[in-house]
Amino acid sequence: MTTDLLSPHSPAATSTGELAELDPYLNQVLARITVADATNIGYPRAIDIDYAALAPFLRFMLNNPGEPHGPDPIYPLHTMDVERRVLTWFANLFGAERGWTGYLASGSTEGTLHSLRLARAKLIDPLVFYSRAAHYSVLKAARILGLPAIAVDAAPHGEMDYADLRVKAARTSSRAAIVVATIGTTMTEAIDSVPAIHGSLDDAGVARRWIHADAALGGAPAALTGRTDFHLTRGGADSIVTSGHKWWGTPITTAPTLTVHQPTGDSRPISYIGNADTTIAGSRSGLAAVVLAHALTRHSLAGQRRRVEQARAVAGYACRRLTAIGWPYWRNPDAVTVMLRPLPEPLTKKWPLPVDGGWSHVICMPGITTDHIDHLVTDLQGGS
Ligand SMILES: Cc1ncc(COP(=O)(O)O)c(C=O)c1O
Repeated sequence: MTTDLLSPHSPAATSTGELAELDPYLNQVLARITVADATNIGYPRAIDIDYAALAPFLRFMLNNPGEPHGPDPIYPLHTMDVERRVLTWFANLFGAERGWTGYLASGSTEGTLHSLRLARAKLIDPLVFYSRAAHYSVLKAARILGLPAIAVDAAPHGEMDYADLRVKAARTSSRAAIVVATIGTTMTEAIDSVPAIHGSLDDAGVARRWIHADAALGGAPAALTGRTDFHLTRGGADSIVTSGHKWWGTPITTAPTLTVHQPTGDSRPISYIGNADTTIAGSRSGLAAVVLAHALTRHSLAGQRRRVEQARAVAGYACRRLTAIGWPYWRNPDAVTVMLRPLPEPLTKKWPLPVDGGWSHVICMPGITTDHIDHLVTDLQGGS
């Protein structure tokens, strides 16, 4: 094994010793990713937004350490102003009128960890209830925080079993409960009902509670097309996270994470950064705020809604094509995810789709077209 990162066949260096072109090895990686991109319809990321205009920002090490709601960090190459605008857009999308706080986490895993940490500080000695269809990050966050976690059953289509939540919550009703509602489960895109969760906790006699909406996948499309029951409003959720790299396909992972509660617990002012340490990460990507702002400003709200409708239409088209060839499938209402029986083994390299419990799926994110579906269906018919 060589310890040199650069290939021995690297192109000539400039007078300053810099390579004039991209290193051949990185070029190979770029070629591999480009090929993979053409048939990635199993893992969610939009591909309809061009981020190339942001190249000038790559000259700078953009860093947003600490609390985005000021004071701004001493480090001058921050984009906290952009971050605040982006967060305000999401606060509006999720119905948080005022008094909200939050930041751009590195992904929904960090956003859930942060939210559960805030919930733990507020509730004192709570239990976490999570659906068996929840993302694996939820149990991980509970374990990191030392919180006992109780699994709640899920229906076959992926939605939480609210009766099971009621029974399990009633066993510990004197303790506070953190319930994680998934707004678009990873595999089937089922949406848990936050009002039904509140109803189960009411019936179980649980008074002290925090509902965290893990809206990594489905929060944006649901909210953009009028679903409000998981919003940061009374009777809704207490905190929410959604992944910008999914619905907008940002080239850097980023997850707006919001709560309507003021952070409690350890959030000390730090003189070195000139700011308060309220976030899980220390250094945070300032470029993430820029790429997400770019995505949000590419379309008006009507345009953002149109992206949802187009993606759902492609999912509907996929269902019709699968019906036509007799390939078993199903789809949750309004989902861009279409569940289908796993592909024959020879096709799985070209079409790397996840498989769980005997089902696979395609996700028709914005930018995935009927051509992608036709291509897959042709391969399925050929069986190769
Ligand atoms: C429902 C759900 N929650 C959380 C995550 C984790 O998100 P991230 O990869 O941004 O940490 C995912 C990712 O697939 C997800 O689908």
